[in-house]
Amino acid sequence: MQTTNKARYANIIPMEDLNTIEKKLDPFPIFAQLRGTTPVRYDENRKCWDVFRYEDAHQVLKDPATFSSKRGGEENESLLMMDPPRHTQMRALVSKAFTPKVIADLAPRIQSITDELLDAVQSDGKMDMVHDLAVPLPVIVIAELLGVPTKDRKLFKDWSDILVKGPAKNTEELFVQVMAERTQARQELDAYFAEIMKLRRQEPQDDLISLLLSADIEGEKLDDKEIIIFSILLLAAGNETTTNLITNAVRRLTEDQSLQQTLHEQPALVPGFIEEVLRYYPPVQAIGRITTKDVQIGDVPIQAGEQVISWVASANRDEAKFPDPDTFIVDRKPNAHLAFGFGIHFCLGAPLARLEGQIAIQAIARRLQHIRFVEGTPLTPIPSPFVYGVKEFPVTFEIS
Ligand code: HEM
Repeated sequence: MQTTNKARYANIIPMEDLNTIEKKLDPFPIFAQLRGTTPVRYDENRKCWDVFRYEDAHQVLKDPATFSSKRGGEENESLLMMDPPRHTQMRALVSKAFTPKVIADLAPRIQSITDELLDAVQSDGKMDMVHDLAVPLPVIVIAELLGVPTKDRKLFKDWSDILVKGPAKNTEELFVQVMAERTQARQELDAYFAEIMKLRRQEPQDDLISLLLSADIEGEKLDDKEIIIFSILLLAAGNETTTNLITNAVRRLTEDQSLQQTLHEQPALVPGFIEEVLRYYPPVQAIGRITTKDVQIGDVPIQAGEQVISWVASANRDEAKFPDPDTFIVDRKPNAHLAFGFGIHFCLGAPLARLEGQIAIQAIARRLQHIRFVEGTPLTPIPSPFVYGVKEFPVTFEIS
């Protein structure tokens, strides 16, 4: 029955079709086709179910009892890979340290880091948006938030890169090499954070590590290992995603020059612009789960123990949810995109990512004009199938 079922809903359009550079930069027509032909389908090559419509992606994300986040071993268990009741307890604990106030208080610092980064390139009339702004901004912010000493920032950035880096090509040799690098970075980070925790225990500071050390719920506290795993999760989940949000936003500004003028004249439109970038070019394209029981998505029955991938990038362009989905509408309302997920695992860093995105784009729109992508430069997509962004984005500009 299951084999027949999988064959019946098998892929007509294989995911490999998305592997060309051109399609990776613009996968949206393929997603539209998939929503129309096989909105819930089984991919024999990747051995998983893919879900393309908004309603179905939403069904998966809102029901953690049926669609579990538990993957991998116990050893590396982070918040992202926990189910209730443990997730509920852990999320409540870390949320005590990662509050809206902690984030809002960062605004002046984010502003001055952004201005410093732009000051450094402004007189050149050109910059690489990725390397000169979108990469350093979130790394510096996270490092400061956690309380990592300034002198260690480069070290910190290298570890963070290794943690999120996937092999450029999927050969076994490269995979083994990347995994070995990752294990080493993990060991170094463990030792590094153990040292910082020792210092913060002796002398608490106004930083996230100190807050995490003191957070408790009904007497329950996080142990050292849990704090390290959470800090590493912030690095892995927060840096590259925010980098891609900023770069994708600037990419959009260069694709439609009139947006630059609009945001320059009306900075109050920037928060809505950032939401629309998140819908239109979501940094995280897809979210994975595993079925805990037999279930039906749309009219497709799926057995327990199957991998299900919710394609956020497709759901965000679903015509059944968003009128005129392929049009970028700077003040689109409502805009219930799934770029930060949905439900119990909804991105804990969303307020921080939004704030960084808004401050960066407001500064760009205020200070720079006629921002243009340097034509003829090849646009290279990030190789991971789940990440949407480009490796470099050189632009020229004039000063406002
Ligand atoms: C969870 C996206 C920035 C920390 C998630 C999820 C998504 C996401 C889709 C849900 C995953 C799932 O349901 O399995 C993004 C995007 C970002 C961003 C698009 C930037 C634009 C950040 C930042 C941080 C962060 C800046 C922290 C500094 C987390 C954490 C979780 C999470 C801790 C796990 C929450 C849980 O499992 O309860 N993020 N994220 N993210 N994100 Fe983000």
